[in-house]
Amino acid sequence: MGDKHRVRFEPVGIEIEVDEEQTVLRSASEQGLMLMHGCKEGQCAACKSFVLDGDDIELDRYSTFALPDYEREEGFTLLCRAHVYEDVTIELLNFDEEMIRSGLPIVNAVAEVVSIDTVTHDLRHLVLELIEPAEITFFPGQYMDIKIPGTEESRSFSMASTSARVLEFIIKVYPDGLFSSFLDKSLKVGQRLDLTGPFGVFTLRDAPDSDLIFVGGGAGLAPILALLRSMAERGIERKAVFYYGARTAKDLCFVAEIEALKDKIPGFRFVPALSEPVDGEDWDGEVGFITDVLKRYEADLRGAHAYLCGPPPMVEAAMPLLASLGAPEKHIYYDKFTTTGGED
Ligand SMILES: Cc1cc2nc3c(=O)[nH]c(=O)nc-3n(C[C@H](O)[C@H](O)[C@H](O)COP(=O)(O)OP(=O)(O)OC[C@H]3O[C@@H](n4cnc5c(N)ncnc54)[C@H](O)[C@@H]3O)c2cc1C
Ligand code: FES
Repeated sequence: MGDKHRVRFEPVGIEIEVDEEQTVLRSASEQGLMLMHGCKEGQCAACKSFVLDGDDIELDRYSTFALPDYEREEGFTLLCRAHVYEDVTIELLNFDEEMIRSGLPIVNAVAEVVSIDTVTHDLRHLVLELIEPAEITFFPGQYMDIKIPGTEESRSFSMASTSARVLEFIIKVYPDGLFSSFLDKSLKVGQRLDLTGPFGVFTLRDAPDSDLIFVGGGAGLAPILALLRSMAERGIERKAVFYYGARTAKDLCFVAEIEALKDKIPGFRFVPALSEPVDGEDWDGEVGFITDVLKRYEADLRGAHAYLCGPPPMVEAAMPLLASLGAPEKHIYYDKFTTTGGED
């Protein structure tokens, strides 16, 4: 451990001590402070903040898409990459006061593989049971970092489940992906994995009068499923719709379970859509990009809260659309599944 310095966050007036060897975001997470973040790897810009006071800040490797040089010169920084070497004051640009103080301290955990099921040709349903600790506390929609055995690498995966003991994940397999090919080819039932978390701010905000729009695709289904399952379990009766985009019918999964949620969440609508249905496929649902389908159904989203999760291009296309339909930008929540080792 290195020297510690005080980091003050404005305009919320919260101060924490941060070790030089840790990033500001990591240290805040360990202290139960939930700052806005996404990838934690300098790729997504969700943690971008402004340095009001203090110069001695160094950044680990990051993408200049997330923080262009001119912004860094102006005083912007990425909290997930920033190490401080003196006391500093940071202005949070993106924050949710309700969330910041509700943060749960992250824990290191060991879990055992219960099952690995193929749910589509490229999606796996991984179920883990916690061993140590036996339970963790998290908000539905959050994610864990899973360490790849034999390496120092880890990858982030959203929990699709709500149980404190049994964690479910929906993971896309990339042929050359370090974690996903390990999952597909080597990982066995009974094997143990090291996890850290929970992380993430893709959680249901308490706003009983606001309608909910969920938009997801691919493995982005995972945190949305967690939110829907938790709504059903908690008896939340907000009007909700889920636009679920896939390329072909064989890319869809958990459809029967989601359909059945209509019985548990009053007024819940489920709109799956295929962008490239295959001739002869048994499909009488919507066709088109999920954003185009949403546009066909929704004319006025004023006051709604939107939750988007999936590949970055889908999230990027949906955000301006939802805003143009009236969804307040500060209530458009998203998780982009950015990948490790992107552009510099
Ligand atoms: C907050 C957060 C939550 C996430 N939750 C999930 C989740 O619930 N489920 C899930 O499956 N993933 C999720 N991800 C993505 C996940 O963390 C990994 O980045 C992803 O699984 C790839 O890891 P890998 O080790 O298999 O591939 P890597 O070894 O990192 O990548 C190797 C190669 O695989 C290919 N590849 C990897 N990712 C992509 C991509 N997105 N598009 C195209 N090609 C790619 C590329 O060729 C890449 O060079 C999440 C990411 C974040 C930031
Ligand atoms: S969380 Fe810092 S750039 Fe993504």
